[in-house]
Amino acid sequence: MNINWYPGHMTKARRMMEENIKLVDVVIELLDARAPLSTRNPDIDDLAKNKFRLILLNKSDMADPKDNEKWEAYFNELGLRCVLIDSRNRDSIKNIDKVIKEVCKEKIERDKKRGILKRTLKCMICGIPNVGKSTFINSLCKKGVAKTGNKPGVTKGKQWVNVKGEFDLLDTPGILWPKFEDENIGIRLALIGSVNDDILDITELSYKLIDILKNKYPGVLNSKYDINEDANTIDILNEYTVKRNLLKKGGECDIDRGAALIIDDFRSLRIGRLSIDDIPSV
Ligand code: G4P
Repeated sequence: MNINWYPGHMTKARRMMEENIKLVDVVIELLDARAPLSTRNPDIDDLAKNKFRLILLNKSDMADPKDNEKWEAYFNELGLRCVLIDSRNRDSIKNIDKVIKEVCKEKIERDKKRGILKRTLKCMICGIPNVGKSTFINSLCKKGVAKTGNKPGVTKGKQWVNVKGEFDLLDTPGILWPKFEDENIGIRLALIGSVNDDILDITELSYKLIDILKNKYPGVLNSKYDINEDANTIDILNEYTVKRNLLKKGGECDIDRGAALIIDDFRSLRIGRLSIDDIPSV
C-alpha cells in the first residue's frame, strides 16, 4: 500500500510548529489511544525539547481498556505524564487543568520564588490530523472562555483563549505530520480513519485489518462472526462477506462491499473496543 504525504505540507507544518512552540510553556500532545505510536510524530521530542510536556491519549472511549492502561504506563515509564481522555465527554477532562499545573510545577515554583504568584501558563495543543485537537480545545474552553486577543510578542493573528483564569491556550492547534515512511504506520492511520479513504485500496486495507486482528485479538473474528480464523486472509474476507450476506446478483461474493464493511465494523466499534498498535517494552 502506498500512502503519500506531501513533503511540502511537512515543511510548512514544521515551520508553524517551530514558530508556535517558542511561545508556550507546555506542549500538550494528543494521540489516538487506539494507535498511540502510529499517531505520534517522534520529531515532537526535538521540537518540544525544553518545554513541559503532557500526553493525552484521546478517543480512549474507543480503545481497548486493557491497552489503555498499558499505554498510560508505557508513557509514564518514558518519563512523560500521560492521561486517558475522551474529548467529547467534558467529565473526562474536568481535571486537566490540575494535571497541567502539576506538569508545570517547576515553573510555578520558580515564579513563586521570584515573587510572581499568578502567571498564566501558556499551552499549545498539538497532534496529527483527526486525533481530536479541535474537539479537545472546544470542550476545554466551553466554560469561562475569554479570548484575550493578541499579546505583545505574539505573532499577529494568533489568539489565546484564557481557561479559568489559569492558563492561556493557543487557539490554533499545532498540526503534526504523521510518519508514513513505515508502511505499517500508514496502514494503522488508515484503519482509524486518519487518512482519506479515497486514496486507499480498501480491499488491501481490509486484509491488513484481518491480519492485525488475527494477531492481536485471536478469536475475535470467530466469536463475532463465526469465522474460521485458521483460513488464509483472502478466505476469511470471503467468508465474512458471505456471512454478512453481501452477494452480487448471481450469488457471487461482493468482496468490495465486504472489505468496506469489515473496516466500518472496526471503526464503529461493532467488533469491540480494540487497539491496534503493539506496545513496546521500555
Ligand atoms: P482534529 O482537530 O485533530 O483534526 O480532530 P477533530 O477534533 O476534528 O476530531 C476528529 C473526529 O474525532 C471528530 O469526529 C470528533 O468528533 C472525533 N473525536 C474527537 N475526540 C474524540 C474522542 O475522545 N472520542 C471519540 N469517540 N471521538 C472523538 P467526526 O465524525 O469527524 O466529526 P463529528 O461528526 O463528531 O462532528
